[in-house]
Amino acid sequence: MEGKMSENPVNNQKYLLEQQYKRTDNFTSRTDLHEKYTITDEPWFSFVYRYLNLQPDQKVLELGSGTGLLWQKNFQVLPENCEIHLTDLSEGMLDSIQNSIQDKRFHFKQMDAQNITYPDATFDTVIANHMLYHVPDFSKTMREIKRVLKPGGKLIAATNGNAHMTEIYDFLYTFDPTHGFQRRILPFNLDSGTELLKAEFSHVEQHIHASYLRITEVTPLVAYYRSMQTLGVNFALYNQQAFSEFLQTTLDNDGQIIVHKSQGLFIARN
Ligand SMILES: C[S@@+](CC[C@H](N)C(=O)[O-])C[C@H]1O[C@@H](n2cnc3c(N)ncnc32)[C@H](O)[C@@H]1O
Repeated sequence: MEGKMSENPVNNQKYLLEQQYKRTDNFTSRTDLHEKYTITDEPWFSFVYRYLNLQPDQKVLELGSGTGLLWQKNFQVLPENCEIHLTDLSEGMLDSIQNSIQDKRFHFKQMDAQNITYPDATFDTVIANHMLYHVPDFSKTMREIKRVLKPGGKLIAATNGNAHMTEIYDFLYTFDPTHGFQRRILPFNLDSGTELLKAEFSHVEQHIHASYLRITEVTPLVAYYRSMQTLGVNFALYNQQAFSEFLQTTLDNDGQIIVHKSQGLFIARN
């Protein structure tokens, strides 16, 4: 396990499927922290929905749709007659959406984004929200996305920048520099995304979402650390009780813990 963790687990599909995303709990620990403590003028999923610009009669494919938060958050404003296909590599994630979204506009399929099982020119928009950094074969995924997009259709690809939540890693390092973990660079991130997408699409725009976390409780923050176990932060190696106390002291001293985010999306089309 330790040896294997030195590979980049972020695009190791076996780890992702059997550990990180087997069930929804790791993912939900992280989204809960964002949900509870984000300070922003526009919630993340409203921002993504605004750029999606979904029109009546359009067909949308989401790759790696996770727990379907984009749709749960924007359910009230969806056009009546659109068709939305939610797909994920993990059955566990897909089950959770099927339980929470029951609506005739939605369709569900277990599917690897590298092998899209829909015919050519089917969709007006393909969405890949915080998931392209997980796919081992980026070029193949791009070929598949372009194949299923209608002429004039667009890809919305959201991701993080290299500076995303730096304080999370700084706290671990300050608490105990001896473990010497390395922060993993996401293979598809806000810094590398323009170049990667320009190799595939003739028009690429980037839009940055401005937000940060103002955390006022330690427990959800510790749950966040635990959720990253299979994403390269081996939290089990740390004295968790002592680390929680360290975070609590930081919080008591400052009255808050500020964590900066770097998030955004690309719109790509040919
Ligand atoms: C960080 S979550 C994002 C979920 C959702 N898009 C959101 O933003 O709330 C990443 C999702 O990608 C899925 N995933 C990982 N590799 C995949 C692949 N090759 N094909 C499809 N989905 C994949 C995971 O199972 C997980 O549900």
